[in-house]
Amino acid sequence: MGCARHWLVLALSLMVAGWSIGQPLRNEPLRPLPEHNDADPRRAALGARLFHDARLSGDRRHSCASCHDLARGGAGGLARAPSLGARRVQFNTPSIYNSVFNTVQSWTGRPAALAALPEHAGAAGWDALLAPLAADPAFNAQWRAVYGDVLGAAGAKDALGHYLRTLVTPSRFDRYLRGDAGALSEDEKAGYARFKSYGCVACHQGINVGGNMFARLGAMRELPGLRDNPNGQGRFEVTGRETDRFLYRVPSLRNVALTAPYFHDGSVATLEQAVDLMFTYQLGRGAPQRDKDLIAGFLRSLSGERLPPPGAAP
Ligand code: HEC
Ligand code: HEC
Repeated sequence: MGCARHWLVLALSLMVAGWSIGQPLRNEPLRPLPEHNDADPRRAALGARLFHDARLSGDRRHSCASCHDLARGGAGGLARAPSLGARRVQFNTPSIYNSVFNTVQSWTGRPAALAALPEHAGAAGWDALLAPLAADPAFNAQWRAVYGDVLGAAGAKDALGHYLRTLVTPSRFDRYLRGDAGALSEDEKAGYARFKSYGCVACHQGINVGGNMFARLGAMRELPGLRDNPNGQGRFEVTGRETDRFLYRVPSLRNVALTAPYFHDGSVATLEQAVDLMFTYQLGRGAPQRDKDLIAGFLRSLSGERLPPPGAAP
């Protein structure tokens, strides 16, 4: 009898083990990043050149990478991005990593992405932005070898688009979602469980743990100072609709441990403070310190490594 019970327990635990290894988790509100790079290697290489060239900005001194610093989680590390000449930049630089998966662009949904790039980089238009590179014979020869044409807006957007597709950073958490139960520590798993059960995931969801919706900052309790915010009133500035006042894009939390300071205006110094504020103002409640610590620990597991370069063997 005792022996039969042991066999039953053993058989059951083998079934559970067999099931938990290698099976992607189902019905999760978060989805894993891809594991392979689908960008065109030659176009992405030209995009990388553009991204790192300081001539590609209104003042000819800032490359894309000087604000979207790849060594700092793809974000700025400053509360506000530096101003480009006369243009004052009012926002904290969002991470460029995984930004191709954000369905809402920029903090207020203003298209900061490739279509609006010249304005974003402080130039009058695409021709003005690209002029110094278009006048560089060596660069143009390399460009022509890939695109068969002179450098222009369409090609530049295409090349940058391919490059951005290489800036994807799967993490241990993605391995966990794909079924590697050992990829997260027990504390990190507990943090993820709390992230879901407290309802953080109602806003920070999908493949980027955010980046796919707007939410009112101070959803459950008014955030002090927001009414007279010198940085504007959020999405209201773009649409003029009263219901959009104080709405901001819910940011992606991928690599969030690396992208301090936080919030659209860079007003929050540490990850712990950001988690605290989220409880108070977005959820309208407190929580035991232990739970907040576990959640912060889970968020650290979202720091990833860049995908292997496009064209690399899988
Ligand atoms: C002066 C600093 C600065 C420079 C230079 C800069 N960016 Fe940005 N970038 C920002 C800021 C700030 C935002 C957010 C703007 C907003 O929310 O309105 C942003 C947003 C973006 C976004 C949207 C990301 C998202 O998830 O919403 C993309 C894509 C982007 N930048 C790409 C580029 C590229 C490509 C270049 C080079 C041509 C570039 N940026 C140059 C500061 C900069
Ligand atoms: C009602 C929607 C909502 C809920 C619920 C919510 N958040 Fe947020 N979260 C936001 C918005 C909007 C921002 C951007 C705030 C800003 O830019 O000023 C944000 C910002 C953050 C940031 C800063 C990210 C950055 O790059 O600046 C962190 C960290 C964060 N949330 C974690 C959490 C955690 C942890 C929870 C649960 C305890 C949570 N959030 C619940 C909407 C939400």
